[in-house]
Order: sequence, then structure tokens, then C-alpha cells
Amino acid sequence: MEQNRPQWGSRAGFIMAAVGSAVGLGNIWRFPAVAYENGGGAFFLPYLFALLTAGIPLLIMEFTLGHKYRGSAPLTMTRLNKKAEWLGWWQLAIAFVIATYYSVIVAWATSYSFFSFKLTWGDTPQDFLLGDYLQVVEAGQFGGFANGVLLPLLIVWIVTLGIMFSGVKKGIEAANKVMLPLLVILFFIVVVRAVTLPGALEGLDAFFQPDWSKITDGKVWIAAYGQIFFSLSVGFAIMVTYSSYLPKKADITNNAFITAFSNSSFELLAGFGVFAALGFMAMQQGVPVNEVVSSGVILAFAVFPQIINEFPVANGFFGFLFFISLTLAGLTSLISIIETFVAGIQEKFNISRTKSVAFGGGLAAIISLVFATKGGLNFLDVADNFINQFGIVFAGLVEVILVAWVFKELDSLKQHADSVSDIQLGAWWKICLSIVTPIVLFFMMFDNIRQNISAPYGGYPVSFVLTYGWLVAAAALIAGFVFMYAKPWSGSNKGEL
Ligand code: PHE
Ligand code: NA
Repeated sequence: MEQNRPQWGSRAGFIMAAVGSAVGLGNIWRFPAVAYENGGGAFFLPYLFALLTAGIPLLIMEFTLGHKYRGSAPLTMTRLNKKAEWLGWWQLAIAFVIATYYSVIVAWATSYSFFSFKLTWGDTPQDFLLGDYLQVVEAGQFGGFANGVLLPLLIVWIVTLGIMFSGVKKGIEAANKVMLPLLVILFFIVVVRAVTLPGALEGLDAFFQPDWSKITDGKVWIAAYGQIFFSLSVGFAIMVTYSSYLPKKADITNNAFITAFSNSSFELLAGFGVFAALGFMAMQQGVPVNEVVSSGVILAFAVFPQIINEFPVANGFFGFLFFISLTLAGLTSLISIIETFVAGIQEKFNISRTKSVAFGGGLAAIISLVFATKGGLNFLDVADNFINQFGIVFAGLVEVILVAWVFKELDSLKQHADSVSDIQLGAWWKICLSIVTPIVLFFMMFDNIRQNISAPYGGYPVSFVLTYGWLVAAAALIAGFVFMYAKPWSGSNKGEL
């Protein structure tokens, strides 16, 4: 029994940290476009279905695993069954890879917070982004550093690792208690401004316009489940780690519902904001809304600067608010990803938190420099795609199959969750996890493989996709086994609680 295992200071602290992890770039730059392209208003049906049949059940499962076994993902898996340790390390390796490029995106957002005041974006904001700022070169080349990214990246790592050094309660919890409310307030101001712009209603109309014909399209359902998994940060060890710091008497099921609904609310809020702003832009340019819809890096760093430039008043101020929101959303997620491997390394090698943050965080910081080169955007694009498709989805599939079918743990996990939670789990929970979730994840895997075999991702050269996509995803899995067989847990007590 580890007396000195860190603990959250309060229930609100835990919820804020979990919501801080869930609410990230995916809510702001991914959800609005995914919803729009997959049926608009009609997308809410598959989305809600995915939330209730897979997202929330899996979140409850991960919260319960962490709370019951009280360990980082590898330790939790080891305690579940010694043979499952590699799964924890695999998920941890996935988190590590994500940290290396997620930090760079946060750095861009930090830069742009300050660029907002200058309002000089070269010929177009997109030229400024790809030319002046990132200086993008051909796929596969490094081309030296994009110098403008280095300072903000350094700042991001100093802030993040500073928080990590301070511990779970004094660092992570304290940071989330400030950053999450601040994010909600600042982002809300941006959204209110956006929906009161001319053209906003046309944008919202386009967003909510239901296309019911899409409902019978399997792709739409896959997109809904994909969005839910990514958005709730389930399937890659984060929520297991966070819930392992809950006190013994802590509600699980209710906390999972609160986390999930908060995340979805923020997603919806972002949908309003993004489409109102796109409607405004379409009106300015005299084109239909569908011609200005975009997502990801281009939406955030090229389209938004353009929109903000056209704001009637106080452009710099609203630009600043938007990019600070992006920075905060990213930081709170980044912290959760880093905690995942910091905790695992600390427990496996029996070292202090300080050492684990220094080694693990330090290594991630050094590797993140790859994405700060002029070739960084290409590396990032491919690594992100593959680690999502063959990391998160695949590892999530293996996780539910092991827990539900191989080790048959669902009944005992249900008992554990029910013993501490207000809400009691019904039969639906077990059915969703043992049948619905694995089937859907299997189809997602299948679809991912089919797509990637039919054409190299993103039109990049095959060798580039092989090295920085397939190889990176495979390396995470291999790392899982390497760490399992690396020096075992020092201290013979790791197996039991
Ligand atoms: N859930 C986050 C989002 O919606 C994504 C994320 C969190 C990704 C943590 C990685 C790690 O953006
Ligand atoms: Na999210």
C-alpha cells in the first residue's frame, strides 16, 4: 500500500482536471467541421448515440480501472493481469508521441496570441502561416528550424514542466482550477462576439441544417464514434491515470457523466462560435458558407486570423482572446498527456517525480524540436493521423477486448463503481462495452486500414508515410513490449495493492 501516492485535493479539482484534459483542440477545431460534414443538425443523433453507447461507458470503465487499481496505466494493467502490462506501456508510448507534437501546436497558438495585435499577416494569413512563420518545406525534409517557433515552444515546455514538477495537487490541479474557468470565460466572450456579427445566422443555419440522408451512411457513424473517442481522451491511458489519484471514497459514475457532458457542451459552444464566424466571413466575401468551411491547423491559424482581421472593431483584442483560448485548451490537455507517462515511468523505475518529469518531459521536449523544423508541419500531420488511427483506436479496441472478454473484468469493475457511486450502472453498461464498443472500434480499424492501403495518407510520398506514419505507430506498440520487459518494477509489492 503506497501511503504517499498523490491525491486530488477536492472533487471539483479532479473534475476540472478531467474536463481540462477532454476539452482541447479537438473541441474547437475538429468538432465543428466533423459535425458539418457529417449531416449538420442530423449529426447530433449519431453523436449522442456514440456518446451514450461508447464514450461514457468507456470513460466510466477507465475511471473505475484507475480508481480500483490505483496506478498509472502500466501499473493498473499489471494489477489487472500481469500479462496486460504491455498494453499500458503501449498507451503510454502513444501519449508520449502525442505530447511531442501537441506541445508544438500550443506553441503556435502562443505565438498567434501576440501576432493578433500586429494584424499584419503578409499577403494572406495562409501565406503568413505556411511561408513566413512555419516556412514549410517539402515532405521528408527538415530544412533547419522555423526560428519563430523556438521561443514559444521553450515557453510552453517551461510552463508545462513547471506545473508537472509541482505535483498532482499543487501543480496539475491548481493549474486546471485557474486555466479551465479562464478558458470558458474567454472563449465565451469570443463566441458571443461571433454570433452577433453580420452573417452569423447564415453560418449557424448552415451548421444546423440537418441532412438526414447521411444518417444511413456508415461513415457518418464512424465519424461520430471517432470524434467521441478523441474528444473524451479515452483509449490512451490518460483518464486511468487521473482517476488513480482519486481518494478511496470518490464518486466515479457521476463524475464520468459530468466530465462527458461538460466536454460536449464545450464542443457545441465551439460549433456556434466557429460557424457564426464562418458565416460572417462568407458574407464579407460574398460566397456561400460551404466554401469557407475548414478545420484543423488551417482553420485555426489561417482562416481565423482572416476573420479577425475583418472584425469591425477591436480585432486585436478578439484575436488575442481566441488564441489564448486555444493555448489554454491545449495546455490543459498537454498536461494530462504528460502526466500519463510521467506517472508510468516514476512507478516502473521507482524514481522521484522530479526525476521522472526531468527524464520523460525533457525527452519529449527534445523530440518536439523535430516538429519545430521547417518540415515540422508535414511530420506532424502524418504522425498525428497514424497515431490516432492506429494508436488510439487500435489500443482502445485491444483495451476493451482484454478487459471485457479476455480477463472478464466488467462485473467486478461494475461492482466497484457501484460501491462508490451515486448512479448505479445498469446492464446497458456491460452490453455497450462488451458488444457495441468493440464492434464499432473494429469497424473503425478496418476502415482506417482500407483507406490507408488504397492511397498514401494526405497525398504524401509513400516512403514518407511509411517512415513517419506506419513506423511511428508501430514503434509505439513495440515500445510497449520493450518497457514490459525492461527492468521490472523494483519492489515486489507492485503486483498487489
Ligand atoms: N480530448 C482532446 C481534445 O478534444 C484531445 C486530446 C487530449 C488529445 C489529450 C490528446 C491528449 O482536443
Ligand atoms: Na474534447
